[in-house]
Amino acid sequence: MFSDAPEFNHETGGDYASADRIFGENTDGMEMFTIGGRQIIAVNHEYANPKLNLPQNENGIPTNAQDVLKLQSLQGVTVMEVVEGESGWDIAIDSPYNRRITHNTPMKITGPAAGHELLMTKADPSGRTVLGTMNNCGAGKTPWGTYLTCEENFNGYFGSTDMTFEKPADYARYGIGLEGRYAYEKYDPRFDVSQNPNEPHRFGYIVEIAPTNPKSVPIKRTALGRFKHENAAVTLAPNGQVVVYMGDDERGEFMYKYVSNGVYTPGADTSDLLNDGQLYVAKFNDDLSGSWIALTPAATGMSEAEIAIFTRQAGSKVGATTMDRPEWVAVNPIAVECYCALTNNKNRGIKTNAGGDEAPVGGPNPREANKYGQILRWWPANDDHTSDDFTWDLYVMAGNPNVHSDAYAGSENINRGNLFNSPDGMMFDTTGLLWIQTDGNYKNEGDFEGMGNNQMLAGDPVTGKIERFMTVPFGAEVTGLTWSADRRTMFVGIQHPSAPFPDGDGKLARSSLVAIKRNDNARIG
Ligand code: FEO
Ligand code: CA
Ligand code: CA
Repeated sequence: MFSDAPEFNHETGGDYASADRIFGENTDGMEMFTIGGRQIIAVNHEYANPKLNLPQNENGIPTNAQDVLKLQSLQGVTVMEVVEGESGWDIAIDSPYNRRITHNTPMKITGPAAGHELLMTKADPSGRTVLGTMNNCGAGKTPWGTYLTCEENFNGYFGSTDMTFEKPADYARYGIGLEGRYAYEKYDPRFDVSQNPNEPHRFGYIVEIAPTNPKSVPIKRTALGRFKHENAAVTLAPNGQVVVYMGDDERGEFMYKYVSNGVYTPGADTSDLLNDGQLYVAKFNDDLSGSWIALTPAATGMSEAEIAIFTRQAGSKVGATTMDRPEWVAVNPIAVECYCALTNNKNRGIKTNAGGDEAPVGGPNPREANKYGQILRWWPANDDHTSDDFTWDLYVMAGNPNVHSDAYAGSENINRGNLFNSPDGMMFDTTGLLWIQTDGNYKNEGDFEGMGNNQMLAGDPVTGKIERFMTVPFGAEVTGLTWSADRRTMFVGIQHPSAPFPDGDGKLARSSLVAIKRNDNARIG
């Protein structure tokens, strides 16, 4: 991204000092922004691939602070200007908009949890400033032109150097343990919970970034709750209130909606629209109806700050519906309807979530030990996204009619030409076509025979028809999707391929963005 960064080194996976000057690891959600005729992509780097990033270390495990810093710098967010030339798209090297946001970038905390004692640390006694955003999974875009990056599996970065440390009771619901996945806690005390027990309370939020303002400070929006955020689907109600739909990607966790108190007025101040509002959690009934339950102090017995920090516990208190791992939510731009990819859930009908909430078979989660996933959709009452009530159905149940003849064969819109499992990324184009990306089992055998590698499909919400559009290299998941300003190019994210791609033998297989155009250069969505 910058001319002072060395060419990528396939033997070392790059050096730690330039790791925050290059495009990062494990690309995920992304959005396109335009300013003054320039095109800027903001894209997430979800997690590290230690064996690729530290190929000289045994199993890629960091052995010193520089190794940890390298992993921290390869994750977070990239903001980059892109330019289309004769031979395709390139990064505009040294563009003033190019920027890396990493696990160490200073940012502000706002909303109900800001300044709460549970967020105070030795380094930040105010509880209002934090370093970094982590495990940036899906994304979203606001009507005022900012990027929302979503912190998902933040728990995995924390550990303890003291195995006798007694974990706070709230850690269990979020999976925060004493053994970190990346050895951060050994070389960066901020991630050692025995020294900094409140640091994990400062992650698991949605962060707002202004890609067209390279000097802007990212802002954590605690009003949108703390959980394993997948993405943020932002829309406007008829009266201009801002509505954000969100999923919590964990077996048996919930789906959420945020509604701003204020209305969006183009050109007016937007700084509090994601601070001042009401968070809701979804409850589904078997009769295809459902409702959003407000997470208020009266309903939960928790303070507003506690609801923002322990949002899962708040959802449990009001009896929210445990879901089959809510991944991306998408709002149709030409109809008042929403879709959510429920990717799979081996625990459905078998065990409770980490909060002890039952996960019975039924409603939008109709299959025991759900191995294939389904896409749920719902219609807000009165064609208004602020409505408390909705009706719902399942757009598709993934399945395999070659192997099964029961519910595991899938719904009627599944056939031999579109077999898939584990829908995950999902986004509408401007024509109302639903693009579906998978992150599932790609072994192509047994229950998954005939499905092949992960793929992207296009679905017609009106007819229910779904067609396979592309497949990705072995090992990869396909996640993240955006379009050029003229919508003649589609950018698709390829995450963690294990087959060398696109560099060939002897090279590290790296996550990539691919640009797709039609041969006739017509618009794609
Ligand atoms: Fe990062 Fe749930 O996918
Ligand atoms: Ca995902
Ligand atoms: Ca997934």
